[in-house]
Amino acid sequence: MKVVYLGHSAFLLEGSRRVLIDPWIEGNPQAPISLNECKGADVYVITHAHGDHGLEDAIKLAKRHGGVIVGIYEIANEAASKGVKETVGANIGGFFEVNGVRIALTTAVHSSPIGAPTGAVVELDGKRVYHAGDTGVFYDMKLIGELYSPDLALLPIGGHFVMGPLEAAKAIELLGVKKVIPMHYQTFPVLKGKPEELVNLLKEKGLDVEVIALRPGESYEL
Ligand code: NI
Ligand code: MN
Repeated sequence: MKVVYLGHSAFLLEGSRRVLIDPWIEGNPQAPISLNECKGADVYVITHAHGDHGLEDAIKLAKRHGGVIVGIYEIANEAASKGVKETVGANIGGFFEVNGVRIALTTAVHSSPIGAPTGAVVELDGKRVYHAGDTGVFYDMKLIGELYSPDLALLPIGGHFVMGPLEAAKAIELLGVKKVIPMHYQTFPVLKGKPEELVNLLKEKGLDVEVIALRPGESYEL
């Protein structure tokens, strides 16, 4: 699976299916492509309804290119009410399947103008990616690690609205993941966290973890 970073918290998972997670493109200062250049996806996973997580862009893309919008029940309803033909609303529970992609919504400690905030574990072609959404650190990340054993975690490190490097290092310890892509940092001045800080903190903890700091537009083969 190819993991393409689209800046901020937006990722494209490209394998037998295309999965866009939090595809905030229009207005995203880090976006390497325009919305017109985006080919859409088979599945769009939206972690919560804050503007920087791409519900509005996902709605536009789904109407243009097709694909299913997936998220917490109220977000799926919102997409349906705005004319998206295929939506799957779920909640924090367990795996469900959409278009050949397995998804489990997870706890996130944050807020959301619609429904409640979540993270998501996405299984595609036998690999599991945990996108934490916007969240602070919480002890039940250990449970996410134990239950779902993600091969890769996408974790916010910017601070202020989400975990900073200190909290993300603890999250990595709790999750027990070996590969991490930092996200939600440096988009705006307030999101101060940097991957180097995370790398240093992990070294101090003696954790052997690969921190893959992608620039927007770059990708990682999982
Ligand atoms: Ni948010
Ligand atoms: Mn955010």
